[in-house]
Amino acid sequence: MSSPTPAPFLPAGFRFGTSTAAYQIEGAAREGGRGPSVWDTFCARPGTISDGSNGDVACDHYHRYPEDVALMRDLGVGGYRLSIAWSRVQPEGSGRANPEGLAFYDRLVDELLAAGVRPMATLFHWDLPQALEDRGGWLQRDTAERFAEYAALVALRLGDRVEHWCPVNEPNVVTMLGHALGVHAPGKQLMFDALPVAHHLLLGHGRALAALRAVGARSVGTANNHSPVRAASDDAADVAAAELYDTLWNRIFSDPILLGRYPAGIFELMPGPVEDDLAVIGAPVDFYGLNYYNPTRIADPASPLPAEPGLDEVLTARGAPFKMVPLEGYDRTAFGWPVVPDGLRETLVGLRATYGDRLPPVYVTESGCAYDDVVGADGAVHDPERVAYHDAHLRAVADAIADGVDVRGYYAWSLLDNFEWAEGYSKRFGLVHVDYATQQRTPKDSYAWYRELIAAHR
Ligand code: NOJ
Repeated sequence: MSSPTPAPFLPAGFRFGTSTAAYQIEGAAREGGRGPSVWDTFCARPGTISDGSNGDVACDHYHRYPEDVALMRDLGVGGYRLSIAWSRVQPEGSGRANPEGLAFYDRLVDELLAAGVRPMATLFHWDLPQALEDRGGWLQRDTAERFAEYAALVALRLGDRVEHWCPVNEPNVVTMLGHALGVHAPGKQLMFDALPVAHHLLLGHGRALAALRAVGARSVGTANNHSPVRAASDDAADVAAAELYDTLWNRIFSDPILLGRYPAGIFELMPGPVEDDLAVIGAPVDFYGLNYYNPTRIADPASPLPAEPGLDEVLTARGAPFKMVPLEGYDRTAFGWPVVPDGLRETLVGLRATYGDRLPPVYVTESGCAYDDVVGADGAVHDPERVAYHDAHLRAVADAIADGVDVRGYYAWSLLDNFEWAEGYSKRFGLVHVDYATQQRTPKDSYAWYRELIAAHR
């Protein structure tokens, strides 16, 4: 790329990274003793994935990881957030570890370290072993206990080399999209009856945190998705709907972890010895991992405003007590998501304002955008929108730091184009283009830009 070398605008030592997840990139779904997960099952159900695809092959990262790590070495990132597939480690979700599964992650971690890239490992990025789903999955308290055992097995093997741990990725998405609305695995449509899932994911976080610490893991945090919520109007009904949405999407997960309590009105709805569980869930974390994509504008269901296409159709069909409406005035990605970098600054500053000294150092564990990238006749992938997206979001982080928030790093979602859940392979988030027919990797212009930015900060 011929653009001028960017001047540094983030503090010395700021960690630049990239992020992926096992089911989205690994493939090799029936190799190495891996057991089936809920995503294998969900994809096999007709009509669940927009292009009818699945993660059987994905980016074939299971076999091509040396090439992918080499791409990260050349990019110059200091960190890589990967996820461990539970059903590779415990094909049945419990019991003895599968040696081949652990050996794969062992090799991957060593390869990363040899390339100067420090691993951040997520333990649950949505691919629950099907055997546990068959016993009730996250609706059952027992799944949280099994999760802690699995966490300990992984940390015993990798804890000497993994820098940071994120037990659970985006518990709000698992609860809402997977169990309330049914557009993600395991495809349950329970609406408010999905709330026990939220509690058990939080308990899983807490139990895994304790198990990780017990075997000497160094730094344990979160990977929580936050979306700043805007009421559609000053109308009391819209304001109330927006508050409810904020509680159910954001605070139901951050309050228990950072304050050891549920937001008003939630405690009574949760199962089990909730008070005791909150003591486990609220144990101090070493960092707060934040996944940020965009703000959400919410109205009362009776609002005359048109609904935002997509998820809102499902919300409306299921009788949700809020309605998503379009946030006007912003560019949109190919996913239709508004590009609002200041929403990241707002979220970071808001976390600091809400949680004060209870908020540990923050890492942006994901942020990114999908565009319809193609390899051009010149063999390159020109993605100026993605360059602009990451540049603006990194500058929003710099603004939050200037406002007093201790942000230590940014992990761009994603290193590679990959399997985007219910959207299949139709949405490309990578800094590196993947041709799924040949598995050819082509670094995009955004990759070259990120490399220069990282070099400028060295
Ligand atoms: C967050 C999820 O953690 C990740 O798996 C997903 O691909 C991105 N959002 C983009 O939707």
